[in-house]
Amino acid sequence: MKGKVLVVDDEKLIRWSLRENLAKSGYEVVEAEKGSDAIRAFSESLPDIVLLDVNLPDTSGIDVLRSVKAIDKDVPVIIITAFGNIQTAVDAMKYGAYDFIEKPFEIEKLNIVMDKALENAFLRREVTRYKALTGDYEFEHIIGISPKMQELKRVVRKISQSNTSTILLEGETGTGKDFIARIIHNQSGRAPKSFVDVNCAALPENLIESELFGYERGAFTGANNAKKGLFELSNDGTIYLDEIGDMNYDLQAKLLKVIDSKTFRRLGGTAEIMTDVRIIAATNRDLQAKVKAGTFREDLYWRLKVIPLTMPPLRERGEDTLLISQKFIERFDLEFKKQVKSLSPETKKLFLAYRWPGNVRELRNVIERAMILESEEFITPDHLPMEIVQAGEINPSQLKPGEEFGVFIPEGGLDIENIEKELLKKALLMAKGNQSKAARLLNLGRDAFRYRIQKFGLDSETHHG
Ligand SMILES: Nc1ncnc2c1ncn2[C@@H]1O[C@H](COP(=O)(O)OP(=O)(O)OP(=O)(O)O)[C@@H](O)[C@H]1O
Ligand SMILES: [Mg+2]
Repeated sequence: MKGKVLVVDDEKLIRWSLRENLAKSGYEVVEAEKGSDAIRAFSESLPDIVLLDVNLPDTSGIDVLRSVKAIDKDVPVIIITAFGNIQTAVDAMKYGAYDFIEKPFEIEKLNIVMDKALENAFLRREVTRYKALTGDYEFEHIIGISPKMQELKRVVRKISQSNTSTILLEGETGTGKDFIARIIHNQSGRAPKSFVDVNCAALPENLIESELFGYERGAFTGANNAKKGLFELSNDGTIYLDEIGDMNYDLQAKLLKVIDSKTFRRLGGTAEIMTDVRIIAATNRDLQAKVKAGTFREDLYWRLKVIPLTMPPLRERGEDTLLISQKFIERFDLEFKKQVKSLSPETKKLFLAYRWPGNVRELRNVIERAMILESEEFITPDHLPMEIVQAGEINPSQLKPGEEFGVFIPEGGLDIENIEKELLKKALLMAKGNQSKAARLLNLGRDAFRYRIQKFGLDSETHHG
């Protein structure tokens, strides 16, 4: 079924002809003869679309229009007017009618207008639903004052002014790529149009293509009707291609074409369809490595990376971790009806020392869990997962080459010589006393290493390798 249509007309013959034709086109038809009946029929059947004759015997069609719009502001109403009665139709447009059509009309033409109206209403509803759902996705909600986050905010503000450039969002899992993508959309001139979220990894390969581009009737077995794809539906809006690194190679070529020509074809179709959509692609994989390995097209990579944006991992955001924690605590206080005030001082230290491989998502989960368990005013280490409690102990062996060293400096300060000595001892321990190995672990030359272990009197614990 295409949808439910309410036909309001006092001429029996017109109602009859519309009913016959619209039923044939796949509509379920509800009828009303008078204005008062129309409003009742509307509130009872809640149709998807209304065809309204403005010249009714009892009330003015404009009043009907206003009542209908008061019940459902997004429902499309198409005005039917007698030939030469354009003024009434124009008035109706002011009150939110979608379009008008003059009698006598061809059913073909009416069908086209109705299709457009329904699509338009669908998008409007999406936007309404989305707004209700996501008061959260606003620029002001990006928490962070660390240099990396300040830079990110600066770029996001800039990007939002340009409405078309493709954006490549890179960053580890849970750093807030979805979050930022929605904020960019909401900040831009495209905000009233739809934000379409496509997860390239979640859809099976054969489905993702038809989802993106749509298809014509008969394009493949089972394609009994033509279907619009997401590129068509997101026209004038934003399309978010999440986990782009998982898109297969053939589809990458098609995407490249859409970016270059701003047109595409439905599957099984020949017409080139124009689309004006901003693409935001996201990945938590190393795309450049995929390019090197030959699994991601280099030309597409550069086309996507017109504006590169990298979400910094949480561990590189310094004390932002504490600011974000505080926000989450306030949120969960409301949700769980708790009175937790903040993190305890020990918890703060642990949070700053921990690596947060799952980033903001992990932080949120940790706080949520702790708050369910916590009955005191502060979140103490008792309710934290083991791996975070252990983060208090520096463990260099967990670091990968090139990774930042999460050393925590307590408020009272620390003695760098002590740290150096600890590191030398640990290196020797790991190298089982072998000096050359231990020196390599610390990226020191042999002489520099020897000098240091002598300084700290550690040479008795070693042997030459
Ligand atoms: N600055 C922030 N303030 C508040 N919440 C945030 C912030 N950044 C991220 N979040 C929250 O953290 C969670 C993870 O964010 P998001 O889903 O955007 O991550 P992602 O980078 O898309 O991760 P993945 O690569 O796994 O898809 C979400 O619940 C999001 O709302
Ligand atoms: Mg995501």
